[in-house]
Amino acid sequence: MSNKLEMQVCLGSSCFSRGNKEMVLFIKEYLRKNHLEDKVLFKGARCLDLCSSGPNLVINGKIIQGVSLSMVEKILDQELEDIR
Ligand code: FES
Repeated sequence: MSNKLEMQVCLGSSCFSRGNKEMVLFIKEYLRKNHLEDKVLFKGARCLDLCSSGPNLVINGKIIQGVSLSMVEKILDQELEDIR
């Protein structure tokens, strides 16, 4: 079993069109800048059936809803604090 933190961005059509496309690029860059690429398993997810509250992000099983690009950095700072 991997002890990496698992992070998923919903890439269902609703979340994708609401901003998760840009979110993927932002998160990849964030992980690179913070040297966290080896500690985080980052992948896309299929629709989580929570489209109306998207864009959605899942970090270690915790669903974070309504994530905008302007708030994602703060969320990552908080959620990834323990693995730095
Ligand atoms: S597309 Fe993301 S929850 Fe449906």
